[in-house]
Amino acid sequence: MRQPVGSMPGVFQLSPDEILREASMAHALGVPGVLLFGIPDKKDDRASGAYARNGIVQRVTRLLKKELPSLLVITDVCLCEYMAHGHCGIVKAGKILNDPSLKLLARTAVSHAEAGADIVAPSDMMDGRVRAIRAELDNAGLSDTPILSYAAKFASAFYGPFREAAESTPKFGDRRSYQMDASNANEALREVALDIQEGADMVMVKPALAYLDIIQRVKAEFGLPTAAYAVSGEHAMIKAAAAKGWIDERAVTLESLLAMRRAGADILITYAAADVASWLK
Ligand code: PBG
Ligand code: ZN
Repeated sequence: MRQPVGSMPGVFQLSPDEILREASMAHALGVPGVLLFGIPDKKDDRASGAYARNGIVQRVTRLLKKELPSLLVITDVCLCEYMAHGHCGIVKAGKILNDPSLKLLARTAVSHAEAGADIVAPSDMMDGRVRAIRAELDNAGLSDTPILSYAAKFASAFYGPFREAAESTPKFGDRRSYQMDASNANEALREVALDIQEGADMVMVKPALAYLDIIQRVKAEFGLPTAAYAVSGEHAMIKAAAAKGWIDERAVTLESLLAMRRAGADILITYAAADVASWLK
């Protein structure tokens, strides 16, 4: 199954067989790894699909590690795609509960690592989740599984197209109670420091292009492997303008990614990865 995502030209919701096909093609072109997001058969208020042994991400992780062992598999650890209300944590009486969500996030990360994920990447932004995930991974004998933390993740309008792709638009409210304020760079730096204290091995800044100052500061201040995530809205803007003939897709994509590298990013997460790899070949 390949289901096109309207607001993200060239991006599809994929069934496991199609993911294997897509990942093989990208890996052959030189893409070193993939970041997996799941859409469960059904959503509930405990995100049970997120940590199910046979959940979609767990199954695809096993499949990819078996068929393409040299492909790096990173799994997005969050609850929003699996929650009927679309929030990244447990909701009670209209509020997102931080601490009760940690147990489910840690369970999800362990189930991904048990399925063979090379790296787990928590994107929920609950406080204390890196410590909770590290502790549960260690308990489960998975102390070698590293954590790539979405450490500076801003409450951003650039995520719009992704929420269509992942069917994870919040049914009420927004994500401002857990994601960062776009106007506050110092708070983002404090969040990154906390995640590192809690055991993050790599940190991510997201979105990327509108937050190059944050990438630069995070890399300069902490020196950890730093990832930049060029998000769905960034991708959609380039695709839409290019489709109208207003910009050169290849040149603008490469220049944007170059800017992220120049700012200090070591790792680029982009929907254009396979295109870029083929352009650079
Ligand atoms: C969910 C999640 C989001 C993205 C990655 N993980 C959306 C959100 O926080 O609403 C955004 C990705 C993109 O826009 O490409 N925790
Ligand atoms: Zn989420």
